[in-house]
Amino acid sequence: MSAAPILLLGGSGQLGWALAPLLALQAPLVAPARAELDLGDATALRARLDTLRPQGIVNAAAYTAVDQAETQTALAWRLNAELPGELARWAAAHGAWLIHYSTDYVFDGTGSRPWREDDAPCPVNAYGRSKRAGEAAVLDSGARAFVLRVSWLYGLHSANFLKTMLRLGASRRVLRVVADQVGAPTGTGLVAEVSAELVRRLRAAPDACPVGLYHLAAAGETSWYDYAAFVFARAREAGWPLALEALEPISSTDYPAAAPRPANSRLDTTRLATTFGLRLPPWQDEVARTVAVLAEPLSLLPR
Ligand SMILES: NC(=O)c1ccc[n+]([C@@H]2O[C@H](COP(=O)([O-])OP(=O)(O)OC[C@H]3O[C@@H](n4cnc5c(N)ncnc54)[C@H](OP(=O)(O)O)[C@@H]3O)[C@@H](O)[C@H]2O)c1
Repeated sequence: MSAAPILLLGGSGQLGWALAPLLALQAPLVAPARAELDLGDATALRARLDTLRPQGIVNAAAYTAVDQAETQTALAWRLNAELPGELARWAAAHGAWLIHYSTDYVFDGTGSRPWREDDAPCPVNAYGRSKRAGEAAVLDSGARAFVLRVSWLYGLHSANFLKTMLRLGASRRVLRVVADQVGAPTGTGLVAEVSAELVRRLRAAPDACPVGLYHLAAAGETSWYDYAAFVFARAREAGWPLALEALEPISSTDYPAAAPRPANSRLDTTRLATTFGLRLPPWQDEVARTVAVLAEPLSLLPR
């Protein structure tokens, strides 16, 4: 088996942080920080790839500021559309594999059926358009590549909805949360575990591995409002110091944002589950674990 390294991009992000320890179990891992490799610089990237010659690339780097992407379109396009294409073309030319991440925001959010991989993308904001261009560039490159569309990502590391709720719930008495967008909160732990399994398959039988586009989300569905209610219930059990007295449901129109969000973010994960025999756990499992881990320091205090 090759001892060539795996290159992880975006290792300091919320997903990259969860991926790094699992990938490092399989091969030497190289995860350059932004200061060592600015992914805005295509020439520097190319030179790094040519020097490193990784056996595979896991691309967790992205421009993820959804509202700012409406105005910083060039930067979002560079990271989300051009970079994945460059990685995929390098991988195709050098026999390397690639794992790339995309999003439920490539869909327009109409209907109530979970989106399947063969549904036509139709993004409603600049971030979604840039992510769609990136996944298309990867899938068209001929590289041995997985494109994994994930939804409502959260984890222990970096800012995300779950951690924002805990922070606001500690200081605000009333919180209003959008109740008419539906999806599945998906933890970085699940995404990292599935990614590590796909890397194992790629390394074990590269030519037999059924690469391509897959939806990867936790099982079940919820709204942001019900998700927040679940987080606060678990936080209360763990003794989190909550000032919150009322959680109120609002509609998307009551919470205007620069970038419109899809109402239906449900992803159908049948293709991933059946192709690889995976059991995707209910979204509540990792949310509960994450709240418990974040609350762990409280167990040191007297009750
Ligand atoms: N967050 C979500 O809710 C969500 C939902 C669906 C899909 N996704 C997708 O899941 C993947 C991972 O998302 P995430 O939430 O983990 O992202 P994240 O926390 O925002 O991390 C992005 C990573 O990209 C790096 N990066 C950005 N610009 C760079 C540059 N010019 N040069 C070098 N590094 C750069 C960041 O480095 P710094 O630390 O230096 O900034 C960071 O490591 C992305 O493909 C995203 O589109 C996310």
